[in-house]
Amino acid sequence: MITMVAFLIILSTGSGAEASIGVNYGTLANNLPPPRQVAEFLLNSTVINRIRLFNTDPQILQAFAHTGFPVTVTIPNDQIPHLTNLSFAQRWISDHIQPHFPSTNINRILVGNEVISAANHLHIRNLIPAMQSLHTALVSASLHRRIQISTPHSLGILSHTTPPSSARFRQDYVLKPLLSFLRTIASPFVVNPYPFFGYSPETLDFALFRPNPGVFDHGTKLHYTNMFDAQLDSVYSAMRRLGFSDVDIVVGEIGWPSKGDNDQIGVDVATAAEFNKKVVEHVNSGTGTPRMPNRTFETYIFALFNENLKPGPVRERNFGLFRSDLTPVYDIGILRSPVRTSDPPESDRRSPVGGSSGKRWCVTKLGAETEALQRNIDYVCGLGLNCGPIIVDGPCFLPNTVEAHAAYAMNLFYQTMGRHEFDCDFVKTGEITVIDPSYGDCQYHAALV
Ligand SMILES: *[C@@H]1O[C@H](CO)[C@@H](O)[C@H](O)[C@H]1NC(C)=O
Ligand SMILES: *[C@@H]1O[C@H](CO)[C@@H](O)[C@H](O)[C@H]1NC(C)=O
Ligand SMILES: *[C@@H]1O[C@H](CO)[C@@H](O)[C@H](O)[C@H]1NC(C)=O
Repeated sequence: MITMVAFLIILSTGSGAEASIGVNYGTLANNLPPPRQVAEFLLNSTVINRIRLFNTDPQILQAFAHTGFPVTVTIPNDQIPHLTNLSFAQRWISDHIQPHFPSTNINRILVGNEVISAANHLHIRNLIPAMQSLHTALVSASLHRRIQISTPHSLGILSHTTPPSSARFRQDYVLKPLLSFLRTIASPFVVNPYPFFGYSPETLDFALFRPNPGVFDHGTKLHYTNMFDAQLDSVYSAMRRLGFSDVDIVVGEIGWPSKGDNDQIGVDVATAAEFNKKVVEHVNSGTGTPRMPNRTFETYIFALFNENLKPGPVRERNFGLFRSDLTPVYDIGILRSPVRTSDPPESDRRSPVGGSSGKRWCVTKLGAETEALQRNIDYVCGLGLNCGPIIVDGPCFLPNTVEAHAAYAMNLFYQTMGRHEFDCDFVKTGEITVIDPSYGDCQYHAALV
């Protein structure tokens, strides 16, 4: 099953690289779909191939049984002091892991979340002993070769991050024994880089992987063109300084909100889509970072859902890739397109010209529901793409039907995003055609594929 899933997950990036992308399945909401529906959706309709939970919710673990999906679980910070007690750790494993393993592919346990930056000294002091005792409990259950143990960190653990080569950990006294332990048990160092929390209006392009002058690191003579690389290399430098450059790095959380309070520059749907799409492409490209060339990074986008009960500013409730009804807030190329090769279009309802030009358009699928098509219009036009032609008096306003307007908007999106098949999926309401849908003065954009 795992091999098959991995085989099916081919994302059409330019390089043809295989995409591996995880999501954080946070559940601070009262409107989320049942876990079984979520599992089916992820498996059938997206290329997401791993999840991280912030707990050990038995219903969610059950929902992912027999799917082969790797699942990372998290132990809450307040359990850390108890876990130093080996019997407690053993009980914890037998209560929370063993009922689900191996039918659910739990492959990693994260002990606490951003414990060091949370600055609770009781938790920090007990973190490594807790991880050690959990590991011992896994050994006694013969699970230690199947389940890793780690703990995720915010970048608050770093000081001097500019330039990246100058970075060091603030708390070497915790990080050094931690890295040493992770190396011993062959587990990764998990970090949560958030360019979103590091950018200013001046560095927005740097944060978003857009063309920009970049940053030169005099220490290494390396040039940085994006903040993600700079952040990961800062982590690498700090690890290397302590002698742990060989320990794997996993990106436990990364994301960008699609909505915020008032008018912060760079907080909208289009920017969130742009950032997350670039992250997926970048971590899967095999390019690596300037100091870690040719490496890929197991990466978990934050988050799967908009979570309506998260406290704090508006943006906290708007990091999700999907709404609670499973419609995408935006598409970053992780939706699976229906497997259709070069079928001829199902009808000739569009003007029958072209067909051999090599041009392609995205149109609505016959029978797609009007409500879904209206959502496509709202989504595309909400991104700020030019929907002028389908507004009253525009050349494509008539026929004034949701279907016609949706076809125009969906094609606009497909062409703008680079004409990937998945850019025409729209939750299975779009399809690619070789027949030019243009008519009269209404021109549908096209481009050679
Ligand atoms: C998901 O795929 C499984 C297996 O192919 C199938 O049985 C199930 O009906 C699909 N579910 C949805 C919602 O498409
Ligand atoms: C250790 O954990 C076990 C099992 O939960 C419990 O019975 C015992 O009292 C704990 N010991 C200490 C010293 O807390
Ligand atoms: C990275 O890959 C390139 C191209 O395959 C190769 O030339 C280079 O030596 C590799 N670098 C490292 C550090 O492996």
